[in-house]
Amino acid sequence: MTSQRPLEGKVALVTGASGGIGGAIALKLASQGASIGVHYNATKSNAEKICEGVRVAGGSAISIHADVTDVSQVNCMFDDLGSEYGSVDILVNNAGINKDGLLIRMSDSDWDEVIRVNLKGAFLCSRAAAKVMLKKRWGRIITISSIVGLVGNFGQANYAASKAGLIGLTKSLARELASRNVTVNALTPGFIEVGMVKSMTKEMKDMVTARIPMGRLGSPEDVAALAGFLASEEAGYITGQAFSVDGGLVL
Ligand SMILES: NC(=O)c1ccc[n+]([C@@H]2O[C@H](COP(=O)([O-])OP(=O)(O)OC[C@H]3O[C@@H](n4cnc5c(N)ncnc54)[C@H](O)[C@@H]3O)[C@@H](O)[C@H]2O)c1
Repeated sequence: MTSQRPLEGKVALVTGASGGIGGAIALKLASQGASIGVHYNATKSNAEKICEGVRVAGGSAISIHADVTDVSQVNCMFDDLGSEYGSVDILVNNAGINKDGLLIRMSDSDWDEVIRVNLKGAFLCSRAAAKVMLKKRWGRIITISSIVGLVGNFGQANYAASKAGLIGLTKSLARELASRNVTVNALTPGFIEVGMVKSMTKEMKDMVTARIPMGRLGSPEDVAALAGFLASEEAGYITGQAFSVDGGLVL
């Protein structure tokens, strides 16, 4: 029989876990028994709410602050997690931003910032985590890309490039780390009803929903369910993949 808490004894770090999708993933991994580093950049109180949710459900979590674009802050984040829980077994690269605009109006700084947070942030966190995972000969790296990284989008050249870059990063790391039992996969969510999508007008949501074969927007829990599986022992032979969680939008 499969254990109800297959991640008991494992330690997970979820970046941007004070936000919608990250928070749901943190709660999912905690429900499977993992101790959680709830990373935040901006609002500690949101991260503390997620930690409280984990504790109420009988799990263990700490909030950790870092700007994922800053190598010394990233290294400190892993040190803090190590001091509390010993090490890291599961990394979820979820932190991300968008700064949309059509190409000819896109500023250099909007390009640079999105690439720095979304792509360099995942690189810095993955490198720090891989050093630990290679020694343990076990690890899971799960990166939140986007369907926009597969098919592009009007006004999102920077975001799409960063999310496509994450798929290349995922496949390369999967090749480098496979022999040490470290799997690396990406999720490409569609329209998930949090953050930017939540604040869309009803008309926009209706227009988007009409294009989704499943006939509804996604929930953060839809994404968290797959992250929970990929983090488990049972997913140990799956690596280098990008999985869409989009209700069939990109078929
Ligand atoms: N919502 C969607 O429909 C959707 C679809 C596809 C992909 N995604 C991706 O899912 C992830 C989570 O998005 P969300 O919708 O939950 O949005 P969100 O804004 O709630 O979460 C993003 C998180 O990233 C953190 N962050 C931003 N800049 C940071 C920095 N410099 N250092 C550290 N952390 C930083 C934020 O604090 C926040 O917690 C993002 O990578 C996003 O691109 C979202």
